[in-house]
Amino acid sequence: MRTQKKKIAVIFGTRPDTIKLAPIILELRKHPHFRVVNIATAQHRQMLDQVLDVFGIKPDFDLNIMEPKQSLAKLTKNTIAGLDDILVETKPDMVLVQGDTTTTFVGSLAAFYRQIPVGHVEAGLRTQDKANPFPEEINRRLTSCIADIHFAPTSTAKRALLKEHIPAGHIVVTGNSVIDALRYSIKKVYRFSDHRLNEYVQEKRRIILLTMHRRENWGTPMIGACEAVRTLANRYQDDRFVFPVHLNPIVRDVVYPILGDLKNVILIEPLPYGDFVNVMARSYLILTDSGGVQEEGPSLGKPVLVLRKVTERPEAVQFGTVKLVGLEQKKITSAAKTLLDNSEAYRRMASATNPYGDGHASRRTVQALEHFFGYSKKKPSEFRPR
Ligand code: UD1
Ligand code: UDP
Repeated sequence: MRTQKKKIAVIFGTRPDTIKLAPIILELRKHPHFRVVNIATAQHRQMLDQVLDVFGIKPDFDLNIMEPKQSLAKLTKNTIAGLDDILVETKPDMVLVQGDTTTTFVGSLAAFYRQIPVGHVEAGLRTQDKANPFPEEINRRLTSCIADIHFAPTSTAKRALLKEHIPAGHIVVTGNSVIDALRYSIKKVYRFSDHRLNEYVQEKRRIILLTMHRRENWGTPMIGACEAVRTLANRYQDDRFVFPVHLNPIVRDVVYPILGDLKNVILIEPLPYGDFVNVMARSYLILTDSGGVQEEGPSLGKPVLVLRKVTERPEAVQFGTVKLVGLEQKKITSAAKTLLDNSEAYRRMASATNPYGDGHASRRTVQALEHFFGYSKKKPSEFRPR
C-alpha cells in the first residue's frame, strides 16, 4: 500500500529566510515521503526573486505583499490574512518557517490558529534584549512559543531553548543551512555580472565589503557608520569599498548622500546570492549589521566587524573571527584601521572557522522531520563544530 506523502508548507518572504530555506526545500523535494508547498509572502520583492532564481524555486502561492516603507503593523495584517486562506486551501501536515522576520512569526501564528504543527528553522538565537535586534528578538521568542519542532543551529541555541523550558526531545541541533547554501554557491573561478568586481579581483585590490539595513540602526547610528566608512575610504584610497545597498528607501536615503561621491566606494544594487558570496570569498574585510553575513564570513576565513550593540550569534565572536564594534564612528574606524594596517592582527582574525555549520543542516532537518512523522525511529546525530 502506498503511504500518502506528508505535505510540508514552507513559508518564506525575505532574502535571508529564503536563502536559508532553499537548501531544505531542495532536500525535501528529493524525499519520497514529503511533498513541498512553497508559500511566498513576498515581504521582499526584488530581493526575494533574486534568491528564488538562484535556487530554481517557484512559489506555489505568492501573496505579493511588499509595499514601499510598509509599517510592521500593516505587514503583519496583510501577511496573516493572506496566509490563513492558503493554509485553509492546502491543509498542510506541517508548516516550516525560518529565523526571525515578520514572515516567520506571522507564518507560525497563522499555522497555530489552524492547529497545524510548526517547525522552526534557526531556532534559539537570543540577545535577551528586546530592542536589539528590533523586532527580530521578539519574533524569535514568539515563534519558539508556537513551534513543535525546533531546529537549533548550534548547541548554544539549544541551551537557550532549554532555559525557556522547551522539551529537549523537541530540539535538534542541525547546524545552520546558510552554510549549505554557501557551499552550493561558492565557486573557485567566478565571473561577476558587474565588471568592476572582476577588475578589482584581477588587480588584487583589497575589497572591503559592506552591508547595512537593521531597523534599530536607522537614523543616527547608520549615519555614524557611513561617516566611518567615508573616513576609511579617504584614508585607504587604493582599496575598494563595495557596498550593495539594501532596497529599503530609509537605508538608501542615508547611504547615498554620505558615500555616493567617493571614487573608491562603489554603491551597487543588492547582488544576487552567487555574486554576493563570491565577492565575500574574495574580500579582505567585511563590515556589516547582517545576521547571515556574520555566519558566512567566518566560514570563509574573513574577518567580520559587526555594526551592532549586541549579537545573537556569539559563537564566531568567541572563535575570534568576528568582532562586535557597535556603531560609534571612532570605534569602527579604529577597529578597521587595525586590520588594514597590522598584518599580524589581521592574520589572527582571518582563520576559517565553522561554528555555524558543516553543510549538512538540510539533511539533518529532513531526517528530523522523518522522525517527527514516524518514518524513522532515529533522530539525526547532532551537528558539532570541529
Ligand atoms: C526585513 C526583516 C529583517 C531582515 C531583513 C533582511 C522584518 C521585520 N525585518 O527587514 O529581519 O534582516 O528583512 O533584508 O521582518 N524593499 C524593496 N524591495 C525589496 C525588499 C525591500 O523595495 O525587495 C523596501 C520596501 O520599501 C520595504 C522596505 O524595503 O517596505 C522594508 O522591507 P521590510 O521587509 O519591511 O524590512 P527590512 O528592513 O527589509
Ligand atoms: N546577500 C545577498 N546579496 C546582497 C547582500 C546579502 O545575497 O547584496 C545575502 C547574504 O549572503 C546573506 C543574506 O543575504 O546570506 C543576509 O541577508 P540580510 O543581511 O538582508 O538579512 P539578515 O541576515 O540580517 O537577516
